[in-house]
Amino acid sequence: MRVLVTGSSGFVGSHLVRRLVADGHEVTGLDVAEQRQPFDAYRDVRADIRDEAAVRRLLEEVRPELIFHLAAQVSVSVSMREPRLDIETNVLGTVTLAQAAAAAGTRRFVFTSSGGAMFGQPAVVPATEETEVSPRSFYGASKVAAERYLSIIEAETGMSVASVRPANIYGPWQDPHGEAGVVAIFAQRMLRGDAVTIFAPGTDTRDYVFVSDVVDAQVAAAMAPEGAMCLVGTGVETSTREIFERLAAHCGYERAPIMGPPRPGDIERIALDASKARATWGWSPRVSLDDGLRMTVESFREEMGR
Ligand SMILES: NC(=O)c1ccc[n+]([C@@H]2O[C@H](COP(=O)([O-])OP(=O)(O)OC[C@H]3O[C@@H](n4cnc5c(N)ncnc54)[C@H](O)[C@@H]3O)[C@@H](O)[C@H]2O)c1
Repeated sequence: MRVLVTGSSGFVGSHLVRRLVADGHEVTGLDVAEQRQPFDAYRDVRADIRDEAAVRRLLEEVRPELIFHLAAQVSVSVSMREPRLDIETNVLGTVTLAQAAAAAGTRRFVFTSSGGAMFGQPAVVPATEETEVSPRSFYGASKVAAERYLSIIEAETGMSVASVRPANIYGPWQDPHGEAGVVAIFAQRMLRGDAVTIFAPGTDTRDYVFVSDVVDAQVAAAMAPEGAMCLVGTGVETSTREIFERLAAHCGYERAPIMGPPRPGDIERIALDASKARATWGWSPRVSLDDGLRMTVESFREEMGR
């Protein structure tokens, strides 16, 4: 198939491109940033999804049958500091792309939303698709708004829309310099022997899903007969403290963590029940946390050795 991936130079986008190229699809990537992975048989385009003329031109030229939309302003704290930038990228950018896609004859539009940021602190964990949507951050609100706009575009144009709502994704190639992505940040610091800070209390839990499992869900969402919105997680809660300990064992890190102050806006607990994804897409996570952490540490070790 002719496939367009936005956010193709990012962490998840790069893994998705690798998978789609290996599956024999004709893949075009769109991103403002350079692709850091060496992919063959892949067209890599620099463009900004907020640039309506550029997006329309590209889509008219490529005429993708399938779009995976991952390009986003991904930081919760940036969204709180710069809500306009977040809205422009995550809401306006998504609407611009989806309308251009519908006009170019795209059949399925797979949006990567966020299962971790749309519920605030749910009363019952793991959250399901029935849990009340109540984001605490502008980032979460922008993902919810984008989903709502996409439902309307789907109804108006007939372009089928699917929404993958992942939990906390981790794995090789994740940016260790950001402020999110605790596995990447801890792993890199531990491999360097640097101090590692856990924001208090450390007992807060997240649902960690390995990047290849998320790619499986995205592909399943694309290939399913109908569009659907599903949570993609393991249903298992893991505390930050436990991530620290498991990673320390993989890295041979012996220093104690530094306890930092709590971060405003952080929730206490989250995990996502993926029963609907299992029933609808035949998806369930395949990589255990320990295998995923081991593969992540190996990849970071290799990158640092280069
Ligand atoms: N990483 C996670 O834990 C997680 C969890 C749930 C959902 N998501 C979603 O998955 C998607 C991919 O996230 P990621 O972790 O790979 O992040 P990432 O930052 O590594 O990738 C995002 C990519 O989007 C690109 N981008 C940003 N603004 C753009 C614009 N205006 N035009 C074109 N490209 C632009 C960036 O250059 C980057 O390469 C995002 O939509 C994110 O919201 C991520």
